[in-house]
Amino acid sequence: MPEFDDEFAQFCRQQYPALSRRVGDELAVFFDGPAGVQVPQRVIEAVGHYLGYTNANHGGSFATSRESDEILTEAHQAFADFVGAHDAHAVYFGANMTTLTFALSRAIAQTWEPDDEIILTRLDHDANVSPWVLAARDAGAVVHFVDIKEEDCTLDLECYESLLNEKTKLVAVGCASNSTGGLNPVKEMTRAAHEVGALVFLDAVHYAPHALIDVNDWDCDFLACSAYKFFGPHVGVIVGRPSLLESLEPYKVRPASNELPDRWMTGTQNHEGIAGAKEAVDYLADIGRRLNEDDTLHRRAALDAAFNGIATYERDLCRRLLEGLAKIDEITVVGITEPNRMMERLPTVSFVHSKMSAEDISSELGERGIFVWWGHYYAIELTETLGLEPEGMVRVGLVHYNTAAEVDRLLAELATFS
Ligand SMILES: Cc1ncc(COP(=O)(O)O)c(C=O)c1O
Repeated sequence: MPEFDDEFAQFCRQQYPALSRRVGDELAVFFDGPAGVQVPQRVIEAVGHYLGYTNANHGGSFATSRESDEILTEAHQAFADFVGAHDAHAVYFGANMTTLTFALSRAIAQTWEPDDEIILTRLDHDANVSPWVLAARDAGAVVHFVDIKEEDCTLDLECYESLLNEKTKLVAVGCASNSTGGLNPVKEMTRAAHEVGALVFLDAVHYAPHALIDVNDWDCDFLACSAYKFFGPHVGVIVGRPSLLESLEPYKVRPASNELPDRWMTGTQNHEGIAGAKEAVDYLADIGRRLNEDDTLHRRAALDAAFNGIATYERDLCRRLLEGLAKIDEITVVGITEPNRMMERLPTVSFVHSKMSAEDISSELGERGIFVWWGHYYAIELTETLGLEPEGMVRVGLVHYNTAAEVDRLLAELATFS
């Protein structure tokens, strides 16, 4: 059976028009995936096809509206398969993860009393911090933060355990850091939260392009992700426990349906984006079918196969990058670096340089056709805790369409900086 190797990555790359872009004589290198990845041709076509042939509002009694609704129904199912949910009605869409989280946090906060407590982390993207902080402020609830261990920027789980108590109403934590790439033990954290009766909201935005989400196994109450991070258009997605989505009261307009999932999808949705997001899930599933040489593989099993291949390939790339960075004296990587700890992280690597600012490194690399991010990337609690504001770090985000040759090109460029 084929492996996800360099040749397989080349097969994937051919599907992305953006990857043939040149800067000067060289192909551009897209290491900006954590801020949004590129999109395969079939996703672009799905968006165009929606707009060209089935563009209509929801719930009409005519052909285009019925066809549009069929596409949306299929998208709910595709995302139920993507996250491992049993019920496609428990999946809903919106503008992006941030907007969806603000709306959900307001609805959940209606159930909080003054002096109730919530737990957030110093590792999370602010989209999984500020919505909860503001909701807690409105409800008079107390906010606690889980600290990080500075040596590897993983969560201090003893701190987490010590914060949990019978007043804890919610734990909001990311599945993986969009800054250091570190994975959080969300299944264990969820179990501990449930023992004290707290709800758990997981931010899977950074995790979703790299590994299989499993809301059923993790037993979380809510999980959010964003399709533009996993090869789709700019659409946010939440999956919730159906009983909670039914009992909580969304802020909604009166004529909108009160049924799931519509009661959580305020206003007219980005239908073309949702059509494209469904196609992105099917693009990933087809990777799994190709790796297993089985065109009939069910979507969930195919996604499992895809992410097995992708994760192994990405871990090798990440190891190569970390080994190369370790040879450059001026560079210090923030987060897990040991080659034998690759299972504890995703291939997103942030570093600081002793002689150049993160912004200068990013601009110099950009001039040379290598696209990386710099700053805090909204994980502001982390950069503040590490004393890295306002400068931040350089972030290199690898995904399955990146190659060892691209990593080597980056390392060769970085070796010339001083
Ligand atoms: C970990 C993480 N959470 C949340 C978000 C916010 O997602 P969105 O842009 O869909 O609001 C991002 C965006 O970069 C992210 O990386």
